[in-house]
Amino acid sequence: MPYVTVVGEEGMFEVEEGKKLVLALEDNGIQILHRCGGKAKCTSCRVEILEGEYQDLTNIEKDAFAQKGIEDHLRLSCQIRIEGDLTVRPIMTVESSGLEPGPRPTE
Ligand code: FES
Repeated sequence: MPYVTVVGEEGMFEVEEGKKLVLALEDNGIQILHRCGGKAKCTSCRVEILEGEYQDLTNIEKDAFAQKGIEDHLRLSCQIRIEGDLTVRPIMTVESSGLEPGPRPTE
């Protein structure tokens, strides 16, 4: 199974292939912020991917970043499924933002 390493929050864990990154983070104790339930609207679940295997930026992500004026070298963790080892840095957590998370994104 792939490994996810989290920079900044200091975590490393094994994740089943195909799992959404936002859920992998949350289920392993990383309080990644997610406000819209994984619908690519809030962009609060964004992460920087520092290393690893992942798919290209999707049009859904491009549109979400363009609407919010966010650089598109970041990714929405609710739109990424884990395919291999990844090293990521969450941009916003529940703690760093002081905001409450929204509904859990669907599997
Ligand atoms: S964009 Fe809102 S949870 Fe990912």
